[in-house]
Amino acid sequence: MKIIGIGTDIVNIKRVEKILKQNKSMFLKKIFTSNEISLIRDFKLNISSKIAMRFAAKEAFAKSIGTGIGEELSFLDFEVLNKKSGQPYIQSRMQKLKKMKFNLSMSDDYPWAVAFVIASK
Ligand SMILES: CC(C)(COP(=O)(O)OP(=O)(O)OC[C@H]1O[C@@H](n2cnc3c(N)ncnc32)[C@H](O)[C@@H]1OP(=O)(O)O)[C@@H](O)C(=O)NCCC(=O)NCCS
Repeated sequence: MKIIGIGTDIVNIKRVEKILKQNKSMFLKKIFTSNEISLIRDFKLNISSKIAMRFAAKEAFAKSIGTGIGEELSFLDFEVLNKKSGQPYIQSRMQKLKKMKFNLSMSDDYPWAVAFVIASK
């Protein structure tokens, strides 16, 4: 296994709370796939923190592959999901990333949410 890149991001949960109050549906649709949104709708506790961690994960992933979010990569090109154990992982729909492996770790301590991604091959 060879590490290709790393990415990290920190998000202020208070900022996410504000956005969710203003326009939850538009924000969720812009950042998350329908698969992710249906998981988010099942969250019962710490909803803003969980959404903030997943937003941080999206930005961390974009940094780990070196493109950022833009022309080459959209927020909807990949998903942040959880294994049965609770461990989060990234599932990419992009053909060019199929051979790569991604490890994701997320954490929060209000008002901060962080994520870290290692991209390897
Ligand atoms: C790079 C990106 C993923 C995150 O940037 P950001 O959240 O604005 O800024 P951060 O403070 O988290 O990170 C900035 C650092 O990321 C790093 N960075 C910038 N471009 C990068 C890239 N292509 N790959 C990896 N890292 C990158 C740089 O080190 C930069 O700091 P520097 O310019 O001082 O060196 C950016 O592509 C992005 O945020 N795009 C999405 C923006 C968006 O649509 N937001 C709407 C939300 S509703």
